[in-house]
Amino acid sequence: MRLIVLSLLILGEVTMGSAQYRLSVDASRKEAPVQPEMYGVFFEDINFGADGGLYAELVKNRSFEFPQPVTAWTFFGKVKVEKETPCFPRNPHYVRVEADGALTGSGLENAGFRGIGIKKGAEYRFSVYARTSGGQTTEIKLELVSSQNDPVGTARLKISGSEWKKYTTVLKSQVTDAKGRLRLTLQGKGSVDMDHVSLFPADTWKGRENGLRKDLVQALYELHPGVFRFPGGCIVEGNSLATRYQWKNSVGPVENRPLNENRWNYTFKHKLFPDYYQSYGLGFYEYFQLCEDLGAAPLPVLNCGLSCQYESHEEVPLDSLVPYIQDAVDLVEFANGPVSSRWGKVRAEMGHPRAFGLRMIAVGNEQWGPQYVQRLERFVKVMRERCPGIRIVGSAGPQADGKDFDYLWPEMKRLKVDLVDEHYYRSPQWFLENAGRYDDYDRKGPKVFAGEYAAHPDNRENNWEAALAEAAFMTGLERNADVVWLATYAPLFAHTEAWQWRPDLIWFDNLRCLLTPSYYVQQMYATNAGTQVIPTLYGEEPLKGQDSLYASAVWDERMPGLIVKAVNVSSEAKPLVISVKLPRDTRSSGEWEIIRLQSDDLEVHNCLESPSQLIPVKTSLPYENENPVMELPAYSFTVFRLKCQK
Ligand code: AHR
Repeated sequence: MRLIVLSLLILGEVTMGSAQYRLSVDASRKEAPVQPEMYGVFFEDINFGADGGLYAELVKNRSFEFPQPVTAWTFFGKVKVEKETPCFPRNPHYVRVEADGALTGSGLENAGFRGIGIKKGAEYRFSVYARTSGGQTTEIKLELVSSQNDPVGTARLKISGSEWKKYTTVLKSQVTDAKGRLRLTLQGKGSVDMDHVSLFPADTWKGRENGLRKDLVQALYELHPGVFRFPGGCIVEGNSLATRYQWKNSVGPVENRPLNENRWNYTFKHKLFPDYYQSYGLGFYEYFQLCEDLGAAPLPVLNCGLSCQYESHEEVPLDSLVPYIQDAVDLVEFANGPVSSRWGKVRAEMGHPRAFGLRMIAVGNEQWGPQYVQRLERFVKVMRERCPGIRIVGSAGPQADGKDFDYLWPEMKRLKVDLVDEHYYRSPQWFLENAGRYDDYDRKGPKVFAGEYAAHPDNRENNWEAALAEAAFMTGLERNADVVWLATYAPLFAHTEAWQWRPDLIWFDNLRCLLTPSYYVQQMYATNAGTQVIPTLYGEEPLKGQDSLYASAVWDERMPGLIVKAVNVSSEAKPLVISVKLPRDTRSSGEWEIIRLQSDDLEVHNCLESPSQLIPVKTSLPYENENPVMELPAYSFTVFRLKCQK
């Protein structure tokens, strides 16, 4: 008992029998800069994140290139898959639909990605490449079909001539339905070949034709990510080298980007997705464009010459690595090179003559062992010569500690990579215990990139317990911003009916989008990142779990002002005295803005039916003195903002 009272006297104060906890925040001392890219996201085509998700294409297997070319299609009447004299050499299959006037008719229906989401009154851009045999004119009827099998939007297209041509029209839906279908029926007699059958909402993000789902990009935009890591994850590695992600296949005309297997289609034997392929419709150009829209620094991850080390032992021999390294060099040219360069020209022809401003590349995803180090060493040597100014990100393996991790970090220092990518999916308890993880990291070596991290309870739900633990842990990232330069939560998106992996930041179905408590934690950090770390002391120490409290603080030159983040992970409210020392000649503008996420129920989570169970709440308090007592409710994460002026 005596010990407890003593510790309260040292760290806090005893007021009328209840403890007050004192945090000293010294805004007159600016420590490390916070990197403008610090808080970001990791995007991978997992959980139908790209095809069926962010990429707004509504037709699955639009080019008939899936190994089973009928996947997602229902053919009726006389329809067959052909590949003679194709329209697109890298996607050679197409359908031939013939009709002899029989009542049954001939045509095909597409089931979309677990259905086609359509909205009442919304317009949908349809396009198809087609030709007729014999050069006669033929008509196709197009229908949006509801889940009740009713036609709810119709259009007709006349196809003429024996040369492949693109035909477009717009369909308007009379209903809202998450499980619609698209039906194409050949009218009258004749024969028509069709390929790249495509349907997009007209209302994509920025109205782009090969566009992205507007609600999902809006959610990203409001998150304010500083960095965007893509396209994986394990899909970069592939289950085999043949199916690794190859960025050069993902650029140029969308119709001719070859299909690739998605590595997540049969990874989990209890959760198979034989219909999961990558169309590359969302490719590297679209990724760079998205980064530009979001104001996020692009961070592409490239294959290092190894396929997924969990799944296979395929290694590119060291003397055959050249094309892989050339991919990295060419990617810099694609993103930044002049329009007169080979790859800069491809970018310009796609519509973006200006450079994208690529500044970093990760070589390898979650690799380990000497086989990785030997390959990375070759990349580093060439990239240092040929891509000066590009930061190189190496890997610390799939775990946050252990044999591979302990081997890789010294090797990364030896190779002098700029950043080292650490991954940890762990329990909330681990996150709470690791808020001091980076306090003792070597300040002279490479910087840390927390490239994939998420807390998860046993059931792996995105609940408040996980998000609260992440908030507490992130005070440690912020406090150590001199060595932690980037942090990206992972993974980003998951379709509620087609996910392989959780936790995930944003969930969606064919019509709706859901923001998790973890999303709001990330948003509260990213929109309050500040520009310099300032010292926060609890007694003589940073506040990293003592009395179930966590805190960090930054100065923001742009505000200008002070931002304190405080987390209470206990079941009791705690009064925190935030003892503020402002810079000389600076005074507050009179108000604390307070943004808080709080719930007494650690298991609470948002769901599509009830998306706002837990959302941040904003309040304010007058600034009265330099020692305000701020109530930290049980299980809460709070951002305190104080605008200042000279
Ligand atoms: O985020 C899901 C997977 O987790 C990523 O693909 C991989 O890098 C990690 O193992």
